[in-house]
Amino acid sequence: MLDLFPRSAQVARGELQLGGLTAAELAERFGTPLVVYCEETLRAQARALRAAVGDGGRVFYGTKAFPNVAVLRLLLEEGIGADVASAGELAFARAAGLSGPELVVHGNNKDEALLSDAAAERAPVVLDGAYEVELAADAGLERVLVRVTLGVDADTHEAIVTGHHGSKFGLPPAEAKTAVSDGLARGLHVLGLHVHVGSQLPDFTAQAETIRRLAAFAAECRNELGWEARVVDLGGGFGIRHHADEDVPDAVVLATSAVGTARAAFAAAALPEPVVWLEPGRSLVGRAGVTLYRVGAIKRLPERTWVAVDGGMSDNPRPQLYDARYTALSAARAEEDADDLVSVAGMHCESGDVLIDDVVLPTPRRGDLLAVPATGAYTLAMSSNYNGVPRPAAVLVRDGHARLIRRRETVDDLLALEP
Ligand code: LLP
Repeated sequence: MLDLFPRSAQVARGELQLGGLTAAELAERFGTPLVVYCEETLRAQARALRAAVGDGGRVFYGTKAFPNVAVLRLLLEEGIGADVASAGELAFARAAGLSGPELVVHGNNKDEALLSDAAAERAPVVLDGAYEVELAADAGLERVLVRVTLGVDADTHEAIVTGHHGSKFGLPPAEAKTAVSDGLARGLHVLGLHVHVGSQLPDFTAQAETIRRLAAFAAECRNELGWEARVVDLGGGFGIRHHADEDVPDAVVLATSAVGTARAAFAAAALPEPVVWLEPGRSLVGRAGVTLYRVGAIKRLPERTWVAVDGGMSDNPRPQLYDARYTALSAARAEEDADDLVSVAGMHCESGDVLIDDVVLPTPRRGDLLAVPATGAYTLAMSSNYNGVPRPAAVLVRDGHARLIRRRETVDDLLALEP
């Protein structure tokens, strides 16, 4: 089970430690729910993914996984840029010190403000629709990519497949070709092509097929338009393990395969070797994050035992949205025999607010701490104030030190929004 946790996780004297601090002292100091990020895991994963793309390639963090200035800054120190998909995410990246070529701007409905911010930053923008060519030229953008959907259906939850025909993202090949030629005609520097197959991909099948089709499409562009894609941005999508039963290949291995496959496919089509960009989100920050919850009510019913925690779908809506399965460790009783099969419920007024359907724990007691691993991506990023619940805090831990990287909201913060 510890292999789902960050690299610095260990159990000492029966207690879970993260970054050299016990979960209990972190919970005591910062309150719960609390998302604890391990700096060592973030840096190690950043370095490994950077190495996978090699010297010529680039890695842009999919900021949507957890938009946070401290994390963006730390990743920048490791040579990682940011993929931003809104003016808000762009502002986070700027606040972290990223600029120009360290950014790539996305969105299936970018507004003029985002495009003009991108132009001011001189950041490359991924065009997602035919109409955007004109907007991009009017905004004074210099460098663009065109996002193409090549009709590959990835094997993941239907809410997070994106590369199929009929997707709300990108352009089918014929329209993408027109966007490239219109862009060139308007004087844009069309750097290359972008694809993103889907998220939490279970294996490499859909990406391999997409890359193969991408090379064929790039060859068509060269033959028909005399234009060569010098950059291929393969998006994100590598999965992580959230649960011991989940078998997901290592993202660094997949990133290496993606780069190799793209180079080989372009070479086979007699195209120049492309510069490969990747946009990992979950696989960069997911395993680094652990959420700590405090156990409150315990209800033993003939059908099942409910263990309720002080958070739930407001800080992690992934079980409801994607049928995501998580597991938990009783953080301060980590070496006690686990023989009680329970369900972990959230505290929200909704029967569907179940964080974990089945987990075996040492017989839970009110006040226990539960640590839920692999919650660094798309949890706080998608959190809400359902039931008027303030969003949790996040801390970064390393070598026995913890730093607050996002403060806990208060009810006063929420009331302050009401005039
Ligand atoms: N690039 C683009 C253009 C994207 O749309 C995404 C994710 C990424 C990169 C990063 O993908 P990743 O490496 O994290 O899979 N909320 C969902 C995931 C939505 C992903 C949206 N796009 C979830 O919790 O599973």
